[in-house]
Amino acid sequence: MGSDPSRRIAVLISGRGSNLQALIDAIAEGRLDATISVVISNRADAQGLDRARGAGVDAVVIDHRAFASRALFEEAVARELRGRRVSLVCLAGFMRLLGATFLDAFPNAIVNVHPSLLPAFPGVDAQRQAWEHGAKVAGATVHLVTGELDGGPIVLQSCVPVMDDDTPDRLAARILVEEHRIYPEAVRILLDGDHEVQGRRFVKRT
Ligand code: GRF
Repeated sequence: MGSDPSRRIAVLISGRGSNLQALIDAIAEGRLDATISVVISNRADAQGLDRARGAGVDAVVIDHRAFASRALFEEAVARELRGRRVSLVCLAGFMRLLGATFLDAFPNAIVNVHPSLLPAFPGVDAQRQAWEHGAKVAGATVHLVTGELDGGPIVLQSCVPVMDDDTPDRLAARILVEEHRIYPEAVRILLDGDHEVQGRRFVKRT
């Protein structure tokens, strides 16, 4: 286990794991003072598992299909995380909705990165949603996770322009650069703990 228990985090993934990589890199480069105790994937074929192992981070597969209910799956994930004594759970392309069992286990300690300027375009394929809508500005959001889909208090956001000749893929690539930039920064802010949540608003204490 890492040294400072208050700076131990877990990352939950389902696929590519580029945001996980951004966290790994930020830690390696000294921009983020944290230890990733474990990476958990609900899919055995997630590319992010190799990224974790490549960085010497424990990587665990907990396949949701092996459980009779969402609550039992969440209980298994929560048990793994409690055993590791993590103080923050970072969702990074984790494609399962989390219910009360998990949310109650980690109150105000679950964070997610989403590829839109929330509250616009929650849910899947957010970059394509923004492109199809004809938005002129798109972006990335890091937010606390609550029972409302992509609806928790916003920690950080960053915007990018939508170009006339964009495709959804080109727009997604531009947004991803911002995700990788703001996610480690938001995790740092959360671990530093110098903030409070006032209703929907996440504000610095100073
Ligand atoms: C990212 O666009 C993230 O915002 C969304 O899912 C994608 C995951 O990408 N929630 P990766 O697995 O981090 O590369």
